[in-house]
Amino acid sequence: MNLEQTIHGVTFKNPMVLASGIMGITASSWDFVVQGGVGGITTKSLWLTEHMGHKCPTIISTENWMLNAVGLPDAGVEKAQQEIGAFMKNKTVPLIANIVAGSIEDFGKTAEGIAKLNPNFFEVNISCPNVEDEFGKPFACSAPDAAAVTKLVKKVSGKIPVFIKLSPNVDNIGAIALACAEEGADGFTVINTVGPGMAIDLRSRMPILHNKVGGLSGKAIKPIAVRCIADVYKATEGKLPIIGTGGVYTGEDALELMLAGASLIGVGTAVADRGIDVFRKICSEMQLWCTNEGVTEVSDMIGGMHRVTSNQ
Ligand SMILES: Cc1cc2nc3c(=O)[nH]c(=O)nc-3n(C[C@H](O)[C@H](O)[C@H](O)COP(=O)(O)O)c2cc1C
Repeated sequence: MNLEQTIHGVTFKNPMVLASGIMGITASSWDFVVQGGVGGITTKSLWLTEHMGHKCPTIISTENWMLNAVGLPDAGVEKAQQEIGAFMKNKTVPLIANIVAGSIEDFGKTAEGIAKLNPNFFEVNISCPNVEDEFGKPFACSAPDAAAVTKLVKKVSGKIPVFIKLSPNVDNIGAIALACAEEGADGFTVINTVGPGMAIDLRSRMPILHNKVGGLSGKAIKPIAVRCIADVYKATEGKLPIIGTGGVYTGEDALELMLAGASLIGVGTAVADRGIDVFRKICSEMQLWCTNEGVTEVSDMIGGMHRVTSNQ
C-alpha cells in the first residue's frame, strides 16, 4: 500500500518523520536516519547563536518513558547553515528546520538565517521560556505570545510553510493553536515533551538529572499526544496539517495518532528502543494493519475519529 503523503505541495514517501532533537545534529547523521526508511527529517532546535545545554546526567530512560534535560544545546545559525546546506545538496527526503529562541525578535532573525537554505518546512519550537516575560513563561503557554511568534516567522519565511510545535503543558491547546492559525500558521506539530517530571535516586536522595527536572517522552505520553492532536484538529476544523508526535512505537500507534488528526507522524524516543530502522518497521506494521482491515488509502485514517464521533 502506498503511504505517500503530500503536505503543502511537499511529498513525503511515507508519513514517518524524525522528531526534533533525536539524532538530528549533522548532515551525515540525517543521511544515516534516511537509511532507516524515514519519510522526512526534522533538525534539532536551532538557535541564533551558540546555546549551551544542561550538565550531565541529561537523560534517564525506563521501558515506558524517558526524561530528558538535554537543554537544547546548539552551535548557532552559522553552523546550522553549513549542515543544512550540505544535506540539501543531495537530499532524498524533505527537511523540516526546527527553530527556537528566547525572544520574539530572535525567532525572526533565526528564521531569516535559515530561510536562505530553503528547507521544506519550518517547525517553530515555542516551548522555551520568553526571556522578556516577567515570569519567563514559555511562548507556548500564552496565546498572544504564540501568535506573535507565528506572525513574525511567517513574515520572514517567504514561501516556506510554518508549523508551530505546541506544548501539551497548557490548559487549552486548541485555543493556542487557533491563535497561531489566525496569524497564518500552516500547520502544527503536536506535542513536545510533557511535564516537567522528576526522578529521584533512592540511595543518594538526589534527583537523577543534574537539572533536577526534565521533559517526559516515550510510550507513557501517547494518550496525551492523542488527546492534544484531537483538540487541535477540532479547534482548527481539520483545515491545517498536524505532525502527530508523542509515544509512537508501532504501526498501530501511528494509525491511532492519524485517527486523532495527524497527517505525518514524528518518532523520537522509540529510535532508542527499536533502532534506526524503526521508521521502516512502523511503515510495514501500518501497511499490514490496513491490508488486514481492508483500508486501501492510509489518508482515509486522518481525522477518522472526528467523522465517527460527529455522527453519534
Ligand atoms: C533527547 C530528546 C531531545 C529532544 N530535543 C528536542 C529539540 O531540540 N527540539 C524540540 O522541539 N523537541 C525536542 N524533543 C522533543 C521531541 O521532538 C518530541 O516532541 C517528544 O520527545 C515526544 O515524542 P516521542 O515520545 O516520540 O519522543 C526532544 C526529545 C528528546 C527525548
